[in-house]
Amino acid sequence: MNNYIIETEQLSKDFSGELAVNQLSIHVRKNEIYGFLGPNGAGKSTVMKMLLGLLQPTHGSIKLFNKNFKSNQNALLSNVGSLIEEPSYYANLTGYENLQIIQRLLKLPKENIDKVLKIVKLYDQKDKLVKNYSLGMKQRLGIALAIVKFPKLLILDEPTNGLDPAGIQEIRELIKSLPQKYDMTVIISSHILSEIEQMATTVGIINKGKLLFEGRLADLEEDEKYLFETNDDARAKKMLISKGFILDDEKELIINDKRKANIAFAIRLLVKNDIDIYQVRMVRKSLEDVFLDMTGRKGGVS
Ligand SMILES: Nc1ncnc2c1ncn2[C@@H]1O[C@H](COP(=O)(O)OP(=O)(O)OP(=O)(O)O)[C@@H](O)[C@H]1O
Ligand SMILES: [Mg+2]
Repeated sequence: MNNYIIETEQLSKDFSGELAVNQLSIHVRKNEIYGFLGPNGAGKSTVMKMLLGLLQPTHGSIKLFNKNFKSNQNALLSNVGSLIEEPSYYANLTGYENLQIIQRLLKLPKENIDKVLKIVKLYDQKDKLVKNYSLGMKQRLGIALAIVKFPKLLILDEPTNGLDPAGIQEIRELIKSLPQKYDMTVIISSHILSEIEQMATTVGIINKGKLLFEGRLADLEEDEKYLFETNDDARAKKMLISKGFILDDEKELIINDKRKANIAFAIRLLVKNDIDIYQVRMVRKSLEDVFLDMTGRKGGVS
């Protein structure tokens, strides 16, 4: 028995011959914020829709709260709140009225409405028509609609889409508070690592439907390396390789070793052999670069 809130096994979705999701096994633990990362078209929304029973998997299985999804779908989904792609609301009603519809439909306590309006900081705007809300306010209403039943599991598909940095920061703080304050588990998708870097405890990285990495972000972080600038990099490289150093496959001379004694040895070796060293500096790829390399999107895609 484990304590996974979401567990998929070899989950696949075939859209007329194309595998949008390919044998995906993800594991989301209780009370964590799980960042589901991948570029456009990676399959994030498709996975989330399967977790909500909005799409049928072609293969594989899903467990929510340790129970088989297929045979307990309705009971399990009563504990799940979600915001998939665009929030859906009635633009000609106020924020309050939108929440009231769900509150009545699900027979939730009336107090929940004010409570979530305060959580998402829309209380002062609750009587405004939603069509007059800003994008950020609409997004926050979307989250309010998803949490008004105080679900045990919250599924958020790119909730920061289209928001400015301040709006992203606000949503981030809001989401971060949910696990402890309200005993929720959150899975949140994004195509920008830095957006969820500060809130996710675990990340799953998906590209072309396949899971490339699942774990703590710290484990994705590259070890430090040392870049050398010399008057003869070609000769220096040969010399270092002959002594067993592992170099990065780059134009520059980068020693892939973080042990200081080894770097000191390399410096002595080069100097002894009359190679001028102009600088030695520690380099490390940012997490964003590691992620972009992994998903093959380095260099920017329009
Ligand atoms: N209903 C559908 N019919 C056919 N193909 C679909 C359908 N829904 C999604 N796809 C395809 O599945 C793949 C994954 O799409 P999905 O929307 O899950 O990606 P995503 O990771 O959510 O991307 P984005 O970051 O752009 O939202 C894409 O190639 C998409 O064209
Ligand atoms: Mg999507």
